[in-house]
Amino acid sequence: MSEGRPIPTYPDLAGRVALVTGGSKGIGAATCRVLAANGVRVAVGGRSQAGIDAVVAELREVGADAIGVSADVGETGQIERMHSKVRSELGPVDILLPFAGGFGAFTPVEEISAEEWREVIDANLTSTFLTVSAIVPSMIERRRGVIVTMSSNGGRYLDKLLTASYAAAKAGVIQFTRHIAKELGPHGIRANTIAPATVSSERIERIMDPASRARVAEMSPLGTMGTPMDCALATLFLVSDSARWLTGVTLDVAGGRIML
Ligand SMILES: NC(=O)c1ccc[n+]([C@@H]2O[C@H](COP(=O)([O-])OP(=O)(O)OC[C@H]3O[C@@H](n4cnc5c(N)ncnc54)[C@H](OP(=O)(O)O)[C@@H]3O)[C@@H](O)[C@H]2O)c1
Repeated sequence: MSEGRPIPTYPDLAGRVALVTGGSKGIGAATCRVLAANGVRVAVGGRSQAGIDAVVAELREVGADAIGVSADVGETGQIERMHSKVRSELGPVDILLPFAGGFGAFTPVEEISAEEWREVIDANLTSTFLTVSAIVPSMIERRRGVIVTMSSNGGRYLDKLLTASYAAAKAGVIQFTRHIAKELGPHGIRANTIAPATVSSERIERIMDPASRARVAEMSPLGTMGTPMDCALATLFLVSDSARWLTGVTLDVAGGRIML
């Protein structure tokens, strides 16, 4: 499931504990796979138990130490329960990847209702804040930890394929991450974000027809869409000690779709 690509090894990662929200599908699932291949003990997050179980089973099959943690990351109580389970079954979280998010509709701005606006901001920005704020106190106590948040190239540049609520939420994730990098650096904690352009996750394959996918691929100077593994391998580098002097960075995993 590594898309046939070799997975690089970062020996410093072996034995660390990672919590990946949105780990049950797409980019999050690919990231769980590359972490597990590096000896990281992985907590796979999501809402649907079936999706979580499938990824956990796959990781265990290759000998990884993995557990599933089902929680809606919009709910503080569920996040607390998820965190307790990870701590008691795997240990304190060293690597936090609050990747859960997304949006459901390409709504023009004049048609976005207050309810839809709040839903998208909550699913992407507030969920990131709630997850980070639940885990960070234990990282501060241990004076260690690394966080990679999930933005989007829609949070960086104007992307006509996206909707204003999602773009605003993902821009918020970038600035939130820069703030936590500044505030948590003195506690020995790094925080960066990745900003992928369109990646062919299962969700994207479901909502975009082949002709639209071909048009999106042409928008990249490299002529292809990204894959979940492209995001996973960038994240793997960011969480490793090879990136120990990188914090507050936004990494565009975008095939060059950053030059307007
Ligand atoms: N694919 C892209 O082109 C692209 C580009 C830029 C950024 N991103 C971002 O990357 C992240 C993953 O995207 P993807 O395309 O890989 O998505 P995906 O395949 O739809 O997976 C989304 C994951 O997030 C989980 N999730 C969603 N809302 C949740 C909630 N409230 N609580 C807990 N878990 C929740 C889902 O679990 P359940 O299904 O069980 O709810 C699933 O594991 C998202 O934040 C997305 O905005 C994606």
